[in-house]
Formats: sequence, C-alpha cells, structure tokens
Amino acid sequence: MKIILGPASTNLGKQIAQTIKAETVPVAFKTFPDGENYLRLEGQMQNEDVAIVQTTSPPQDTRLIQLALMADSAKRNGAKEITAVVPYLAYARQDKIFLQGEPISAETIARMLKAAGVDQLITVNVHQDKVFSQFSFPARSVSAVPLLAEYFVKKGYTKAFALSPDKGAVHIAEDARKVLGGECGYLEKNRDRYTGQVGMESKTLDVKGKTVIIFDDIISSGGTIVAAVKIVKEMNPQQICIACVHPLLIGEAERVILQTGVKEIVGTDSVPSSVSKVSLAPILSRELAG
Ligand code: R5P
Repeated sequence: MKIILGPASTNLGKQIAQTIKAETVPVAFKTFPDGENYLRLEGQMQNEDVAIVQTTSPPQDTRLIQLALMADSAKRNGAKEITAVVPYLAYARQDKIFLQGEPISAETIARMLKAAGVDQLITVNVHQDKVFSQFSFPARSVSAVPLLAEYFVKKGYTKAFALSPDKGAVHIAEDARKVLGGECGYLEKNRDRYTGQVGMESKTLDVKGKTVIIFDDIISSGGTIVAAVKIVKEMNPQQICIACVHPLLIGEAERVILQTGVKEIVGTDSVPSSVSKVSLAPILSRELAG
C-alpha cells in the first residue's frame, strides 16, 4: 500500500506511513488566481492499493475538492483500491432533513467521492454512524476517545468523571470511563434549528471535589462547551478539563473556553490546532494495516 499525503494532513499521513512502513506519494498543489485548486501526485501507483490521508476541516470545500481530485488522479494512474482516510469528515452532521427544503449533505459528499474514484472510507468519530447507511461504498468510523482518555490517565487523572454535554453523545463519555475507571454522565442539550443557539438543562451530578473531563466529538464555536462548563461549575468540581476529537475551534472558541477557567483543552490532530496533543496515527495505522 502507498500513502498519498493530502495537503491538509501531510504530517499525519507521514506518521501513518512510517508506522505501517508504507511508501509515501507527495502531492504538489497550488491555487490558481481565480481560486481553483490544482494538484499533481508525484509518485507511481500502478496496480497498488493506496490510502489518501486528507482531513476535511475548514476550508472544507477546498479540502473536499482536493480529496476528489487526488482520488481521480490515483485512479487514472492505475491505483487498484482507493481508501480515503478522512479524520474529520465535513458535512457529516447534516445526515438527514431537519427542515423542509434542506439537502442531505453527507449523502451528496459520499456520491461525489464515489464518482471521483474512492472505494472505501475511514473516518474518526463521525457524528452518527448511521450516516454511512446512505453511502454506496464501505465506510467506517473509529473512535479516538480511548486515546484522549489515555492522555489524561498519563497525566494522573485516573478516576476522573467523564461527562458528555449531550445525551446523544453519552456513548463517548462511557468509552472514556472505561479507560479512566471512574464514573460518567451527561447533560441535556438543545439547539435552536434556526439560530443555532445552544441551551442546556441544569442537572445534579456527583462531581463535587472531583476532576471532571467534558468529552465531545467536535468543538466548533465553543458554545456547547461553555454552556456545559457553566453548569458543572455550579456543582463545585475540583477542576474541569475539556477533550474533543475534532478541535475545529472556530474564531474565538479557544479563548472563550479558556476564559471559563477550565484547566486544559485537548484535541486530536484530525484538525491540526494548538490543542492537538493526541495523534490519530496509531488508530488509523491499525485500521489500514487490518
Ligand atoms: C453536536 O451535536 C456536536 O456533538 C458538538 O457538540 C457541536 O458540534 C459543538 O458545536 P459548538 O462548539 O459550536 O457548540
């Protein structure tokens, strides 16, 4: 297998290649003056299986087009099976029609990738696994939550309380608890479909004097985490840390979260950022090596 180093995930791609001892295919890329993307695969892949490592965090449209162009180019250059390794899968949250007149964006993206030549897709902590039922090719999501929890175990936070800010994501807190060895729980979140405003119901949890780690799949604006921290602080924990798989951290999100007094924000390199302290290379290498 050869690893194509997508422009959005060059470092991660190199780490994966090193781990599974695969040859890499560098990618030359540029943007034309009118904004269109150009790229060229700089390696041979005739009759080889290839994995294209390319996250699709912002600017997601550019990165999705680059991914499609790389798949097309790999196919034209004789690649056998093309696996798209997409740590953060853009548009996955729009996996159904919430309001009349909307598209199912996740399905549109899947069709585009398939048409470009992608044979299978591996991602990390996709918002809902059921999104793949709309894909016409094999796709799966692996969880980085154990890796995030291990990071905190190494820091000595064994038995910390793992909290999900949303009942729908309680499985994330449960996965973290299995590694941390303490308790877990969830808050109840609601979001206004028109304004995007986050509301959170107050709740009593047994966190007094404990370290609480709030686990979420994505931090985008930071609104969810800020609302969760506000509620948890009222319950007098010893300290609060934040863990997320995909630290999109749009705009002032990081600053606004740190201003609440949390001890630390930890994310993965699915979205390279100042909080990306946990690498996905081990789990993605394992998935590719089969
Ligand atoms: C939503 O259901 C996700 O799990 C995240 O909680 C959400 O995407 C975070 O977004 P934000 O940081 O803008 O509140």
